Amino acid sequence: MDNSKLEEIVAFLAEYQWIYKNSNTKFVKAGVLDDFPPNWFKSLMNLSHNELNNIPFGMIPDTLDEELKEFLMRISRLSIKVSSKEFPKSSKTMRGVNPKKFQEISNLSRQIHDICREKNIQYLVDLGSGLGYLCQMLYEKFNYRILGIECDEERVKTAEERQEKFFPTSKGSVKFVSHFVTSSSWDFISQELNKVFGIDVKDTSVAVVGLHACGDLTVTALKLFQGTEVIRAAIVMPCCYHKMAIDSQGRPVNFPLSGRLTEAMKGASGIACRPFLRLACQQAVSRWRRMTQEEHRVHGRNMFQRALLDAVVTEDQEIQRVKGGERVDGEDFDGAICGFEIRECRTNALIPWKNEHKSKWRSLCDKYPRGDEISECLTLLQTTIQELCENVILMDRKIYVEETSEAFHCEIMKILDADTSPRCVVLMAMKS
Ligand SMILES: C[S@@+](CC[C@H](N)C(=O)[O-])C[C@H]1O[C@@H](n2cnc3c(N)ncnc32)[C@H](O)[C@@H]1O
Repeated sequence: MDNSKLEEIVAFLAEYQWIYKNSNTKFVKAGVLDDFPPNWFKSLMNLSHNELNNIPFGMIPDTLDEELKEFLMRISRLSIKVSSKEFPKSSKTMRGVNPKKFQEISNLSRQIHDICREKNIQYLVDLGSGLGYLCQMLYEKFNYRILGIECDEERVKTAEERQEKFFPTSKGSVKFVSHFVTSSSWDFISQELNKVFGIDVKDTSVAVVGLHACGDLTVTALKLFQGTEVIRAAIVMPCCYHKMAIDSQGRPVNFPLSGRLTEAMKGASGIACRPFLRLACQQAVSRWRRMTQEEHRVHGRNMFQRALLDAVVTEDQEIQRVKGGERVDGEDFDGAICGFEIRECRTNALIPWKNEHKSKWRSLCDKYPRGDEISECLTLLQTTIQELCENVILMDRKIYVEETSEAFHCEIMKILDADTSPRCVVLMAMKS
């Protein structure tokens, strides 16, 4: 992607920050309902249910407000194309694995195999191996030696129990170890590879892989790839961008990563914030299309009511979900507070709901009589830019890898349809 397109995307995201820069529990307090352009709202409310559901798919009704049309057309113009690959649907399953997870593991393992076969790689390191699903598939289908690294000791134990129960023959080829992987973990990894498979890593080629490598783990995989000669490929499916580390000024440590995006975002640093990362990994657009009118109504109302709760407490208090508590569907305050409690931020002390909260709630409801509908329109705008936000993060990672060396190449590819799995893209960094 050339720099001018990157700059245009950054300018667009900076101009429309009001759509995503507050979390969806804080937008009422932040005044987003006041910022929502009245003409956008009016013209959206005149659409049929079908027209509304099709907007995120690039269908722009003629009757829409002109500025809103321009906003939607810019999204289409700026969209980042990602190639996709189809895999045959497998009718098989794996013990203890649901069909969705099975398809994810199956497609990713085939993609890993396509690359590793070509690059003659026999040893794989699965970062964040969880319960070991991907490791077992890579062994069962393609006979790799795999070291699964997982920071949660309980999960390592469960992965070993599953191995004993379902895959006892894999014990010589699939090993699990507990360790928190960082970009300096190569010494640990190479010692483990030597210990469990008896190999001298200097004489071999390794790939790091990961399924739903959450938070910073995908970036860690790319950094290990960059800094370690014998790691010939990093093939990772990222997820949960909002779990990435945030610095003391509220900015993600690992976004932007590339020199080019960092440069393009100078002067627009507000884009890089946790709500942006959260939007990037929100439910993909396909779910919006299937929503009924009633589902939109309930979603808008719940989102508005949840944000109202945040707006009636003070800065040093926060709303928490009561463990096991159920919210009650309805329009009134007493129903809306069911399932939620107020805690003091500093001490976590419980604060009772009072009449003053109820009266603040009532005056906000009077101020925003159509708050629930505007909330759903805000969700629509977020839905239309979700893919762009995610692709900016992925593109930044690709550029970052390729900036390091001319011998490094990184591809982004969809290997599942978003209906099966909302996080369906794999990053593939390779050395030539
Ligand atoms: C979303 S889960 C995916 C698990 C597994 N790959 C799967 O798809 O079933 C992410 C896993 O990565 C682990 N994890 C996250 N960061 C890690 C790190 N830096 N080192 C090791 N494990 C990590 C988490 O404990 C969690 O089990």
